[in-house]
Amino acid sequence: MKKDSSTESWGNIEMSNEWIKMAQINPHRLHFIMPFTFQQLGDVSGKRILDLGCGEGGYSRELARKGAIVTAVDCAHIAIKYCESRSDEEKLQITYLIRNSSDLYEIADETFDIVLASMMLMDCEDFEGTIREIARVLKPQGKVFASVCHPCFHSSGGIGRQDKGIEKKVVVSNYYHPTEWEAPLSSGSIKVIWRHRTMEDYIKTFIKCGLTITDLSEPVPTDEQAALSVEIAWMQKIPIFLFWELKK
Ligand SMILES: C[S@@+](CC[C@H](N)C(=O)[O-])C[C@H]1O[C@@H](n2cnc3c(N)ncnc32)[C@H](O)[C@@H]1O
Repeated sequence: MKKDSSTESWGNIEMSNEWIKMAQINPHRLHFIMPFTFQQLGDVSGKRILDLGCGEGGYSRELARKGAIVTAVDCAHIAIKYCESRSDEEKLQITYLIRNSSDLYEIADETFDIVLASMMLMDCEDFEGTIREIARVLKPQGKVFASVCHPCFHSSGGIGRQDKGIEKKVVVSNYYHPTEWEAPLSSGSIKVIWRHRTMEDYIKTFIKCGLTITDLSEPVPTDEQAALSVEIAWMQKIPIFLFWELKK
């Protein structure tokens, strides 16, 4: 696998183990990002899907249960090992590969109907290489479903937070400066590399690599979701996640 700072940071054994645990209890992921993503994906039965940056594999398993033909890729070998054991338990047929998202070698051109890139594009060091690879492995007319930390409201340094709970505010002091920093995930303890890219960086790269934006969502949590935690309730004011649907 091609190594870079993102694969080194996320491939760290402690980080990977922490994410595997956290992914299964994180309210944003479980009660907001995952349900919205599955709603957007719709009927996946019989579709060839690449789950890029699959992490602990929750999306891959659910897609396979729904009848999709799933290939799951991550740079973290611990995460892939964990995914394999979980899908073996359930006897789900999922193909796992350890790869840098910017170098999907041995995956043929035009293989997939759908590429899912859930909460991973902001992590990649080689963002353009990753989008180029996504476009290469997608069939013509294939779709990409991607979610990221919202580049306008979620970052560090240039975009910070003030106040707490439902009164929390986003304070922007330097949006234009693409940057990276090391910090634990919220409620985590192991440092990982975070990255800020501007909206323009994302969109111009999609276009440069031959992808067309067909939808963009900043979903508002329902009152039912908001009742689950103050962090989700706050998102009825400010979107900290952004979802794109793209077409080749
Ligand atoms: C925030 S987690 C999201 C995991 C999963 N998609 C989800 O939504 O639950 C980011 C994942 O991307 C993986 N990742 C980060 N950079 C990567 C890269 N350059 N190539 C492949 N995987 C990468 C990490 O190992 C991690 O599993």
